[in-house]
Amino acid sequence: MKIIVVDSYREMSKRAAKLVAAEVEANPLAVLGLATGSTPEGMYAELVKLNREGKVDFSRVTTFNLDEYAGLAPEHDQSYYYYMHHHLFNQINVRPEQINMPSCDLEDVDQFCLEYDQRIAAAGGIDLQVLGIGGNGHIGFNEPGDQLRVHTHLVDLTEDTILANSRFFNSVEEVPKQAVTMGLGSIMLAGKIILLAAGKAKSEAIARTVCGLITTAIPASILQLHRDVTIIVDREAADLII
Ligand code: PGA
Repeated sequence: MKIIVVDSYREMSKRAAKLVAAEVEANPLAVLGLATGSTPEGMYAELVKLNREGKVDFSRVTTFNLDEYAGLAPEHDQSYYYYMHHHLFNQINVRPEQINMPSCDLEDVDQFCLEYDQRIAAAGGIDLQVLGIGGNGHIGFNEPGDQLRVHTHLVDLTEDTILANSRFFNSVEEVPKQAVTMGLGSIMLAGKIILLAAGKAKSEAIARTVCGLITTAIPASILQLHRDVTIIVDREAADLII
């Protein structure tokens, strides 16, 4: 694992955007795996800027998002569909038909999950996967537990995650209790992975991801087995590893 400790959230965002832009420059047909949450917002703002300045061209890129809340309509302002269009897709020159997002629809969810993995495979797999990390060590919505899943699946969110994400909703009751998430298979098969974390609340998860045993209690710890992971963290998130 390559670990880059930076002074600020802004620097983390810029470093991450540079890596994504370099990937697309090297391979204009790149398949990008994208994450949501507050962490990558700054990186998306940087990518929008680079795209406007003509420094990165997304016109031939394909994207796959990691996860989506189950049962939240795409137009809901907390859906990840809304988030991605608001922060990135509507502001860059990616082609709408090249954007892939997990469905929020619970009808035929198993069939959808199967097809989502098939779509990723048909695109040649993910070249570069961007990840955030939950304070509980989840990546995507692969939550801590006794088992980890390989394929895209419907997951019950843990109380930790529901509570952490309630800051985006009017109340904790409004937070969806389930989500569709890529499994660890598509993530681990990605050519490269960039994991971003900022703030003290992530420091324990980062320490256990980087230095701990590989355990289902910290799903991100499996990244120790990947050949090309870059972790970009601010000083607060790196607090327990430096
Ligand atoms: P955050 O979420 O970026 O909003 O902290 C990250 C995650 O839960 O994966």
